[in-house]
Formats: sequence, structure tokens, C-alpha cells
Amino acid sequence: MAGVSRHFGLVRALDDVSIESTYGEVLAILGENGAGKTTLMRILAGLDQASSGRLFKRNEPYSPRSPRDAVATGVTLVQQHFALVPTMTAADNLLLFRSQREVRTSREQAATDLEELAGRLGFQIDPNRRVEDLSVGERQRLELLRAMDSDPDVLLLDEPTAVLTDTEADSLLEIVKGLAHDDNRSVLFITHRLREVVKGADRVVVLRNGKVVSPAAPVGERSASQLAGEMVGEAVHDAVRTGHQLGEPRLVVENLTAPGIGPLNLSVRGGEVLGVAGVGGNGQAELEFVLTGQARPSTGKVLFDGEGFADLHPRERIAREAAYIPSDRDRTALIGPMRCDENLLLGRTTRMARRHPYAADLMDKWSVRGLPEIAANALSGGNAQRLVAAREMDGTPALVLAFQPTRGLDPGATAFLRQALLDMTTSGCAVLWVSADLDELLEMADRMVVMFSGKLVGEFSPPFDRAAIGLAMAGVS
Ligand SMILES: Nc1ncnc2c1ncn2[C@@H]1O[C@H](COP(=O)(O)OP(=O)(O)OP(=O)(O)O)[C@@H](O)[C@H]1O
Ligand SMILES: [Mg+2]
Repeated sequence: MAGVSRHFGLVRALDDVSIESTYGEVLAILGENGAGKTTLMRILAGLDQASSGRLFKRNEPYSPRSPRDAVATGVTLVQQHFALVPTMTAADNLLLFRSQREVRTSREQAATDLEELAGRLGFQIDPNRRVEDLSVGERQRLELLRAMDSDPDVLLLDEPTAVLTDTEADSLLEIVKGLAHDDNRSVLFITHRLREVVKGADRVVVLRNGKVVSPAAPVGERSASQLAGEMVGEAVHDAVRTGHQLGEPRLVVENLTAPGIGPLNLSVRGGEVLGVAGVGGNGQAELEFVLTGQARPSTGKVLFDGEGFADLHPRERIAREAAYIPSDRDRTALIGPMRCDENLLLGRTTRMARRHPYAADLMDKWSVRGLPEIAANALSGGNAQRLVAAREMDGTPALVLAFQPTRGLDPGATAFLRQALLDMTTSGCAVLWVSADLDELLEMADRMVVMFSGKLVGEFSPPFDRAAIGLAMAGVS
């Protein structure tokens, strides 16, 4: 990639970027939210065109006009967000992808090929299971298989590990390394996580605000803190807590059960951050659905300020008094193709102000980089989450229900979100903060409970006993 720029109106997503990758190596592209990483990969994969600059592949000019062009030349992208069809089986998803390349095979053939390819990469997959029944780790591996089906010599991975646990991420990185080192392919992968750069990549390049801030260099040459500094451009400040006082219990959950969880008991006081720690998949999603009215409890009560959540329609209650930061922000928090200003009004019709000034002010106040009239799905991940926070938390809600609020965000956006959540407590708001990141909760929570296998096991107060919480998370009590 030589001197490539891409502008969207006034936004310079890429500004004179030159990057070179070689065969047999994994090149990590590190950068905070909005740095231009996805844009770079979309251009390489033929999904988008550069405003200026040139691309070369094996020293030949390379100008893909479509993803099909790119795939035909041996360049395949695994996108940041899952592109699989959830209601179809793994094998049918492969067929679909093949048909886009005008390759036609039978279902049985697709199933066999999938199993064989998986075997070659060192894992197993059931080709006849529906994608919606697969875990996120399995889905990510299926995405990889689908990409490898065309046998690319350049493999592009846009944040392949964002939704994975550390263990899943490590095993994916091992596979990816093999594809580069053993098969002499060129692999480029995007991440925010320094540990993955160290573990998975041979060289690393850092992007910030559309520019290369430090050219590709072997991973060992720069320390983690140097890389972090280059990525964010400024020191990230630890969150600061000011003047919060614990009040009466506001959110009270009594003997709550629902499919997969319970019985659960908890309470969150005004001004308090209650952290719910736990490895993902231990009932956090079910808890989220029940507390936000997306699923019905089988038994038990949820009270807010002494009143039944059930007396009001939960969604109505949430819309009026509570902020909800969903764990699956793409599917639950925003409507991608809709404009940012319209997204800011979702569920907020009671404050139907004139659309434009309201949205522009709000986006400014919450540091969302982007314009009110652009589609929400044009925002980078960190900016999309700031937009959600702006809609949900502006105007001091009484209750915040935050589920994995900083997952997948870069250090800058993470620090912003953490501070915003802490600031809520100064006005007596109760904050329920569910996170798979124990370090985060150790720092932020006033009290912690651990979710394991659908139940709450143990309650912890500061000074937190990290080892004890870790054991509870692992199901040892
Ligand atoms: N179609 C578009 N229209 C307008 N602006 C866009 C469009 N696509 C990207 N941008 C802007 O370009 C910038 C770079 O976005 P990009 O998605 O490449 O960032 P990123 O580094 O992948 O971020 P993240 O880590 O959050 O995924 C952002 O400011 C984004 O809002
Ligand atoms: Mg991106």
C-alpha cells in the first residue's frame, strides 16, 4: 500500500498510508478506535476504493474493484462483524460464500470440505449445525474456514479476537501463525490488545487518526508501553471517583429465576457500583435479558425504588429512568443503517427536541467522532459505544445497567466509558456493571458478586481478594 488516502467528507480515515507486508509473516495493525484500520482492510479487500494512492501485490499493480476481484487475486478478508447467516448451517454458509465466487458444489461436498479444512488447521467443526447454535469462538473459526476456502495467499483479519476469551484468542492466533509461517502466506490482523501483538505477530505497525505513527517493525523492538503510547498518543488517565455517597437500595432482585439462571438475589444501592464478575457464558446474557424486559422471569421479583419493575412494562421503565448499555451493541443498541441523530432518539421520544442541534450537542459532549447525519454503522467501534452512552446516560438516569460496556474498545474509549459510568454515581444513581474483565471491576466496583453457572456465588467488598474472586469465577467455592 503506497501513499493511500481515503476521505469521507471531512473525515480523513486514511492519510497517506504506506504499509508493506511480506509472505511468511503475521503483521499486526494496532490502533485505537477510529484509527482507520477497518478502512485500510476494506480497501485491500476490494470493498472500498482509495481516494488516492496505489496498491501492489507481488510488485504488480493491484486494484480490486470488488471483493470478488480481490478473492480471485488471492486476497480474502474476515470482517470485523460476523458475516455469517445465523439461521443457516455451517456448510450452507460455505455454499453461500462459494456461490458468490461462482463456485458450485453440493451440500455434502461443502460439509466434507469444511471438516477437512478444519482438520488441517487443527480443530473440529460440525458442518450441519446452525450458526446461531455455535459459540462465538466456533463462529470465529468458521469465518476463518470460510475465508481459507478460496486458498488466499493474503489473509486479512479485522479484529478476529475481539469477542473471544483469552484462551480462545490464543488458540486462534496459533492457527493464524501456522498459516503464515508454515504455508508462506501473508497475514494481516487488527487488534487493540497488546498481548496479542506480542503473542501472535512478527511485526507491528501502529495507526492513529488515519496516519502511520510508527512504521512496521519487529515486535520485540518496542516495549508494550511504547506501543500503547504510540497507539493513544497521550497518557490514558485512570478513572477518578469523586464524591459519591451510598444511599438506600434502589435495584432489588429477589429470588429471580429464568431459564438458565437463578435463583438470584442482589441489590444495588444509590451511588453504588455493583460489579458482576464472571467468565462470559455463565448466565450474564440471561440476566441481561431478564433485567431489561427481553425475557420473562419464571419466578421472583425485580424492584426499583420499592416498586415492581413488572408493574410498568419493563422496557417502558427502562426508557424512562434507566440507562441500558447492551453487551451486543451492534444488534441491540443501534440501528446501523440509520443516522446517528435518529439513533440518539431511540427510546427517548419523551425528550423529542429538535433533532439536529440536540444530536450535535450531545455528540460533542460525549466526544463522538462523527457527524449527526452519517449512518451509525459508519462510526468506529469506540465512537459507536460513545453514541450509545450519550443516548442512555445523558440526563442522569436513576439506574444504569451496563453489560460488558468496554469490551472491544481501545484504551482511550475504555477510559472514557469507565469514567462516565463512575460519574453516574455522584447523583445517587445505582450502577450494575457486568464485566468479564476482572481487572476492570477490581478497580471500579464498590462491591462485587460473581456469576458462575447461572448463579451468584459469593459477595466481595474492598479490599478485594483477587485470588478468592478468581476461584469463585472458576467455580471453586
Ligand atoms: N462510510 C463512512 N462514512 C463516513 N465516515 C466513515 C466511513 N467509514 C469510516 N468512516 C470514518 O473513518 C474513520 C476510521 O474508521 P475505521 O472504521 O477505519 O476505524 P477503525 O480503526 O477500524 O476503528 P475500530 O477499532 O473502532 O473498528 C472513523 O472516524 C469513521 O467514523
Ligand atoms: Mg474497525
